[in-house]
Amino acid sequence: MEIKAIRGMNDILPEDVSKWRFVEETARRIFALYGFEELRTPILERTELFLRGIGDDTDVVEKQMYTFTDKGGESVSLRPEATASVLRAVIEHGLLTEDPIRKLYSLGPMFRYERPQKGRYRQFHQINAERLGEEGPFSDAETLQLAYVLATSLGLKNVTMEVNSLGCEDCRAQFKKALQEFLMKQADRLCPDCSRRMRTNPLRVLDCKAASCKEAVIGAPVIEDFLCSDCRDHYQQVLASLDAFGVPFRKNPNLVRGLDYYTRTTFEITAEGLGSQNAVAGGGRYDSLVKTLGGPETPGIGFAFGMERIIMLLGESIMPAYGCFIVAQGDEEVRRYAIGLLTELRSAGIAAESVPEKSFKAQMRRAGKSGYPLCAIIGEDELKDSMVTIKNLEDSSQVKIARADAREKIAALLKDRGENA
Ligand code: HAM
Repeated sequence: MEIKAIRGMNDILPEDVSKWRFVEETARRIFALYGFEELRTPILERTELFLRGIGDDTDVVEKQMYTFTDKGGESVSLRPEATASVLRAVIEHGLLTEDPIRKLYSLGPMFRYERPQKGRYRQFHQINAERLGEEGPFSDAETLQLAYVLATSLGLKNVTMEVNSLGCEDCRAQFKKALQEFLMKQADRLCPDCSRRMRTNPLRVLDCKAASCKEAVIGAPVIEDFLCSDCRDHYQQVLASLDAFGVPFRKNPNLVRGLDYYTRTTFEITAEGLGSQNAVAGGGRYDSLVKTLGGPETPGIGFAFGMERIIMLLGESIMPAYGCFIVAQGDEEVRRYAIGLLTELRSAGIAAESVPEKSFKAQMRRAGKSGYPLCAIIGEDELKDSMVTIKNLEDSSQVKIARADAREKIAALLKDRGENA
């Protein structure tokens, strides 16, 4: 029987890898501009880390973790997100003692046992950023701007940034109380999950996707009205700095995030074209999390992008493969001549491929499939005259050039094409 991949876990096939690379390389380039360093953590962690870090009344911890007991009898979980792991590593290695301000990014797979659908998988990948040690509104605004720049640099169109403040523990407690009182009156309209959550974690009811819950929360109290003066000032300054950074945003008073560690600023970036799973990135401030995980009191803010969702939005519009297919028609000597060009192009950093033992027709077919914009054709005539015929595979135009100029000419043609793409 054929063995298939696990539901919700995808292979990334060769034809898509160039998109993944583009996304990873863009992320690395943008993070470098903002002084972020890369940190890599294990995929498997002690379950306790996520229970404490994310909150045991969240969907992620309650329903979605891949948790098992290892051979030593310890409960371990595949990471459902990166933040808790990054902070664990920061605390464990004393990174904040070396430098009280750290800006760290990570790329990699996360695991959540969710019901798979378009844009929602059980293994998915995140671009994750964490910024530790700064509590002022500048760091919020700059982090949100970084996320926005990342989205636009990746070529995402029609992106919307929604922002909210969840306040600190003090003002949130007041809000929770008022919200709970409001929800009690709506209890019979709430879904079973929310009927329970109303008591334990009423903010999550605001985020429920069930139609009846969406209706039930119309007219609910709004967190902004409950912010204490420090949180209100902070929020106002974040919004003003976002203007200064030139980031377009929309306030969304119902934006509560699915993880429990957030304080004050929270945000999400949504994009058209994703259907119901339309959040391409989400994040926010978490000023108590480092302490909760056993580290020194340290404010922090961060975000994560879902890479599968970015890739879906990129569609087919990604750069062409940068390379040249070499077609050789003739005897051993022609093939040698082709091998010379193949080697020269590769050592100049230009991708090149050839299947010189196949028929001319089969070689041309492979050239067409290669995705390269150019093909170099070498036959008896080219060999005799020390020339190469370059065919543009997109418009079928051809030029014959001296073999000695071939590498330079091919590089120039590929460069022009890249710039005009
Ligand atoms: P999150 O909102 O749970 O936040 O996930 C961030 C992004 O990961 C989402 O906006 C979405 O694009 C993607 N994502 C989440 N679940 C799935 C899934 N099942 N399939 C495909 N994509 C998915 C966090 O994870 C926080 N740790 C972000 C953060 C970092 N906050 C502070 N620092």
